[in-house]
Amino acid sequence: MRAWRLVLAAATAARRRISLAHADSWWLEHGQHGYAAAPSAPAPARVLLDLYGPVCGAGPDRPFALAQLGQSLDGHIATASGDSYFVTGPDSLRHLHRLRALCAAVVVGAGTVARDDPRLTVRHVEGDSPVRVVLDPNARLDPGHRVFTDASVRTIVVHGADVHAPAPGLAEVLQVPVEGRRLRLDVLLRELHARGLWSVLVEGGGTTVSSFLEAGLLDRLQIAIAPLITGDGRPGLSLAARDKIAECLRPQHRVFALGGDVLFDCDLRATAPAAVATGALSRVF
Ligand SMILES: NC(=O)c1ccc[n+]([C@@H]2O[C@H](COP(=O)([O-])OP(=O)(O)OC[C@H]3O[C@@H](n4cnc5c(N)ncnc54)[C@H](OP(=O)(O)O)[C@@H]3O)[C@@H](O)[C@H]2O)c1
Repeated sequence: MRAWRLVLAAATAARRRISLAHADSWWLEHGQHGYAAAPSAPAPARVLLDLYGPVCGAGPDRPFALAQLGQSLDGHIATASGDSYFVTGPDSLRHLHRLRALCAAVVVGAGTVARDDPRLTVRHVEGDSPVRVVLDPNARLDPGHRVFTDASVRTIVVHGADVHAPAPGLAEVLQVPVEGRRLRLDVLLRELHARGLWSVLVEGGGTTVSSFLEAGLLDRLQIAIAPLITGDGRPGLSLAARDKIAECLRPQHRVFALGGDVLFDCDLRATAPAAVATGALSRVF
């Protein structure tokens, strides 16, 4: 698909600090916050360019971190037993693979690797797989997991600085200081940037995304909400409690339809909080 190839080309150009030399490059305008669809962009491509434009401007001068979660109507990313295949529908899965293809690194927590044994590669769209980064501060994961045995993509496993454990399988170990039992995620991002990994997708689970959000390290947060009710389940975001609604985060956001799911794309760097929506009822699709 032409628009997707253009988005991929824009992400690669930004990463390599070269200008976008592509026949369709007039479809995209480069601004302070990455790319956006130009008015000349054809209507069918416009939504795709709008959704992925902010993700594909990352480079050495503009490192970028985005987290995603797919959750049920009652706020769970998995059932209580940890089953998350699949909370959201096929369009959200394709969206997730597009995000992987646009980012240089994908980060997951040890809980997700232990439960799901994911590959974290790009399979449902055209594009290259990102470097895999696994947060395993206590080196508890079995070396037989696919992220450690699959040679098709590089994997970096993150251990606490005071842990002395061998590298699992084919992975490289990166040791990061721990503070109050949590890895210093700011140090982790700096280490990834030093390795040329400027754009980072934090793919889950809830504990990992919440710790990046709490540390103020995310530029964007995307939550896809599926028409699913799980009852009890694994929580998505879980942050320190706020007493008053006025103290809560209310990020500026855009809303996209992903098949039967609704995607909230939140800009966490926008200075003005989102206004509480009022006025006419409207459909997003
Ligand atoms: N629906 C979705 O979008 C989605 C996406 C991904 C995963 N999932 C589901 O989510 C569940 C797993 O989520 P989860 O929240 O339980 O686990 P998780 O976020 O995958 O992993 C949490 C673990 O990662 C390590 N970790 C993460 N952040 C850390 C930090 N800042 N400092 C130190 N260690 C850190 C810790 O390992 P230690 O425990 O060793 O300390 C922590 O317990 C699974 O059921 C999976 O299927 C759903």
